[in-house]
Amino acid sequence: MSSEITVRVAARTMAADSVVLLDLVANADGPLASWRPGAHIDVLLPRGGERQYSLMPPADGVHGGTWRIGVRREPSGRGGSTWLHDEVEIGRTIRVRGPQNHFAFEPVAGTSYLFLAAGIGITPITSMVAAARAAGVEHSFHYSGRTRTAMAMLDAFPEAVPHISDEGSRLELVSLLDSLDPATVIYCCGPARFIEAVEALAGAHPLHVERFEAKALAAPVFEGDFEVELALSGETLTVPPDRSILEVVEDAGVFVLSSCREGTCGTCETPVLEGEVDHRDSILTPTEQADNTVMYICVSRAACPRLVLDL
Ligand code: FES
Repeated sequence: MSSEITVRVAARTMAADSVVLLDLVANADGPLASWRPGAHIDVLLPRGGERQYSLMPPADGVHGGTWRIGVRREPSGRGGSTWLHDEVEIGRTIRVRGPQNHFAFEPVAGTSYLFLAAGIGITPITSMVAAARAAGVEHSFHYSGRTRTAMAMLDAFPEAVPHISDEGSRLELVSLLDSLDPATVIYCCGPARFIEAVEALAGAHPLHVERFEAKALAAPVFEGDFEVELALSGETLTVPPDRSILEVVEDAGVFVLSSCREGTCGTCETPVLEGEVDHRDSILTPTEQADNTVMYICVSRAACPRLVLDL
């Protein structure tokens, strides 16, 4: 579990109409941890709560010395982005946690990759494209946005194929995915509808996505109460249909770190020791879900009468 640290804002750059890049450096808590493409940090808000932001390649290209995040201002959001835009100036310290990585990318020689980004979904993709470029692996990068001035980092990636709605150059997903070599691995981030369209068309391509919004939840696989055994204490808890495992565990006095409570951030990841899980998160790939080794207890449930968790 990552601990909280204080970092200082060393630079602010407007990277698009409503996207600010914040460069964060170590304050008094020692050097910043290194990270790999796809990682994110949690920014702790002064009025409570936290938000997740993907780490982007810093201007100096040295991972570890600076953490760069990109924040789109969301006036109708819950207040985190407007605070970072309007109140967090150069020199201010903020509390953060991480990095964590639930969208990991490691370039493999001989593998070809397709990177798809839409809107603020560009933020995790930037470090992946930079890593693919540095590793010399075959890759292509398609970046969709509404207007050119709303598209952060477009100029930093000359290999990006831009698809800009108000210029009439929309991304034709069907023809793009149809033309791919079947072994091409796809990494995709953007709004929910964009990710859903890619998922529907990806076919047999290995596909990795990161969602900033939770997927719509289907009905639970297992209706009715189920039991959760906490392996560390041996205690068994009953989870009723109208409560999450996380809520029941917290009521029993067991502390589990959590943040989004909707299955998108990965903070409440819990190892599964026994039992079949009804995975309802927006993080794991179908393969990872089938592995049945971890679950996100804020939304995922049991697909059987009893689970044993490493809690
Ligand atoms: S708290 Fe975010 S995935 Fe569970």
